[in-house]
Amino acid sequence: MKFFLDTASLEEIAEAASWGALAGVTTNPTLYARIGGKLADFEDHIKKICQLVKGPVSAEVTASDTEGMVAQGRDLAKLANNVVVKVPMTLEGLAATRSLADEGIEVNMTLVFTVPQAILAARAGARYVSPFVGRFDDISEDGLDHLASIVAALNNYDMRDEGPNGQQVEVIAASIRNPNHVTQAALIGADIATVPFDILKKCAKHPLTTNGLAAFEADWEKVKQQ
Ligand code: E4P
Repeated sequence: MKFFLDTASLEEIAEAASWGALAGVTTNPTLYARIGGKLADFEDHIKKICQLVKGPVSAEVTASDTEGMVAQGRDLAKLANNVVVKVPMTLEGLAATRSLADEGIEVNMTLVFTVPQAILAARAGARYVSPFVGRFDDISEDGLDHLASIVAALNNYDMRDEGPNGQQVEVIAASIRNPNHVTQAALIGADIATVPFDILKKCAKHPLTTNGLAAFEADWEKVKQQ
């Protein structure tokens, strides 16, 4: 499984990239608003993210009609070679996905919750589908169960490899709330987990690692005194 960072913060992206395991970034309007992003700076901001990360950087359209999404998608795709256009899972979004995919522009279909939505996204030519895990948990459903169903269903039709009709889609486990979501997404076989900065940091930590290191340091002090 690959790690993407789910943020619009340049500082977080730069720091996470320095850890050596970052394969991409996902942003959305909420994440951009959270860092105080201004409309006029949006395109430059996406360009800066694309310079920090070699892998795919998802930038989301904000239009709700197909024509508007396609136009925004084309503009976003021109910002950098690694831009992936994020399109919401609506009927208009599916049509936009097909148009953008036919033009060779990669799409990450977002706000995916169910198996039919994921299959429709893949059939419409999305390069990535993003099932949201945590938002199911927020409404007392098991988001990981839904993620597992989506992965299994896409596997049934070889849609996660180059399929008979040339379809290829990667599953991004999104709306990740804790390290266990990451563990389970990997066991389920999601291709990617897009993880908020603080959760990615938590993923690198364990109390036994911390305690073990403290013991090694204390014992090394003893060695230095001997
Ligand atoms: C995915 O690409 C989304 O940006 C994100 O994972 C949404 O997560 P949230 O439910 O924490 O807002």
